[in-house]
Amino acid sequence: MKILAVGGSVREHSYSYLAARLVSDELVKKKVDAEAIALKDFVLPFADGLENPLYPDIHRLRRLFSEADGLVICTPEYHGGVGGALKNALDLLSEKEFLGKPIVLVALMGGIASGNAINQLRIILRHLKGLVLPEQLLIANAIHAFDVDGQLLDPLLKERLNEMLERLVEVTKKLKKIE
Ligand SMILES: Cc1cc2nc3c(=O)[nH]c(=O)nc-3n(C[C@H](O)[C@H](O)[C@H](O)COP(=O)(O)O)c2cc1C
Repeated sequence: MKILAVGGSVREHSYSYLAARLVSDELVKKKVDAEAIALKDFVLPFADGLENPLYPDIHRLRRLFSEADGLVICTPEYHGGVGGALKNALDLLSEKEFLGKPIVLVALMGGIASGNAINQLRIILRHLKGLVLPEQLLIANAIHAFDVDGQLLDPLLKERLNEMLERLVEVTKKLKKIE
């Protein structure tokens, strides 16, 4: 069973990627095969609905999503919604990568906690036929939310992250019929 944690930002020092790395580290501690990726490490064109042979990273991205049994998508909140780079990456993917796949969502924002980006993602992922679980995590004031080791400072957020990941693993195992 493999879980892919996606940092949905192209910023160099992205808090979404920091969250994705924390997620994969926590999953590895739970003996789950997990990998974190950052969208900044993929060279992607704007999605136009056509196959684009000039961008092999489209296939790399599709393969990573396909091979994952469960997903954790960490989205930045930009102008009250999901960031454009993440939406574009999702537009380059299709139902093939998401059908029946359990997903949990994490949102990171500079200001106060807001569910806008996550709620928008729920609608987008419903179109892609992913199974988005009710558990979610909002990381407000992202710049002050982590310590130097990339750990969450707020013990309540840590606990919620842990519970959310346990639920994801439980549902993914059930769907994969793993004991
Ligand atoms: C273009 C842009 C728009 C933003 N809009 C918001 C916003 O509407 N609400 C908010 O709380 N933070 C906003 N922020 C701050 C980001 O949410 C914050 O920097 C967060 O860390 C972004 O995740 P990232 O580091 O993975 O890119 C914005 C940042 C950028 C660059």
